[in-house]
Amino acid sequence: MIAKIEQLLKEVEAMHASNAEELEALRIKYLSKKGAINNLMADFRNVAAEQKKVVGMKLNELKTIAQDKINALKEQFENQDNGCDGVDLTRSAYPVELGTRHPLSIVKNEIIDIFARLGFSIAEGPEIEDDWHVFSALNFAEDHPARDMQDTFFIESHPDILLRTHTSSVQTRVMEASQPPIRIICPGRVYRNEAISYRAHCFFHQVEALYVDKEVSFTDLKQVLLLFAKEMFGADTKIRLRPSYFPFTEPSAEMDISCNICGGKGCPFCKHTGWVEILGCGMVDPNVLDANGIDSKIYSGYALGMGIERITNLKYQVKDLRMFSENDTRFLKEFEAAY
Ligand code: DAH
Repeated sequence: MIAKIEQLLKEVEAMHASNAEELEALRIKYLSKKGAINNLMADFRNVAAEQKKVVGMKLNELKTIAQDKINALKEQFENQDNGCDGVDLTRSAYPVELGTRHPLSIVKNEIIDIFARLGFSIAEGPEIEDDWHVFSALNFAEDHPARDMQDTFFIESHPDILLRTHTSSVQTRVMEASQPPIRIICPGRVYRNEAISYRAHCFFHQVEALYVDKEVSFTDLKQVLLLFAKEMFGADTKIRLRPSYFPFTEPSAEMDISCNICGGKGCPFCKHTGWVEILGCGMVDPNVLDANGIDSKIYSGYALGMGIERITNLKYQVKDLRMFSENDTRFLKEFEAAY
């Protein structure tokens, strides 16, 4: 009996399985009801009384070793099977938060798309500018209020350097560097010395458009304005031009669109007039062309400029301007579906 136990012990210790089926076959061979170890157990009653203690201990030991060995092999297969060394593949994944495009970027891209279809290409310029490109080259008089510290951020140690107050400065940069035909659109951030409130901020965003060529007329401008308004706010949108003044355009106008919130019937947003102002525009003043190296006797042009926040408000009715720069993800997520 002892010899048989020793023999099985050797076999069990040498047990080896290369897959789950082989392992199951071993379990059946040694540990099942009719397996080798149980068969020995059945013979145990024939063992002489004085040997029972020793043989019993050996038998139990064999059974434990066999069981442990089978368990160890089984564990090895389970870990091997998923190929991940004990990593729990059933655990749920960490949620990956996807970002959303900023509403101002969504609207800026829409504006760019519309003008790109008309042949305008994007031009950019610096946010830290000098007096010439922001004011002088755009025909601002020496005593124009925009040059006042109250309205513009100047660099204290260098009063000629300032944060641009409008993207019209990009007009001058492009004109001084190239000759017509010029057809550009300039999106960007601008700065003004304003107290921050729900309807004003010390920085905001604008898009400027400039077209200079031979025989550009106010009719061309008006047609582009109408097309832009309809593309941006819907085919039923009407436009209205009111005479205005800008140093760099002559004649100048401001454009209203029929209020897209009430459809022109009148609501608090349009102050019950049915119209909302969205941009400034005009024919480029000949002084501006000449100051920037373009011969005003040969060329003419139109320009227009609008605030992206204003257009975004009209599209999405954001009541507080500060929301645009607070990076509150609850606010930003509201625009998830918009692009
Ligand atoms: N630069 C003007 C502003 O910041 C906007 C503007 C008005 C731009 C008329 C233009 C224009 O190009 O023709 O208020």
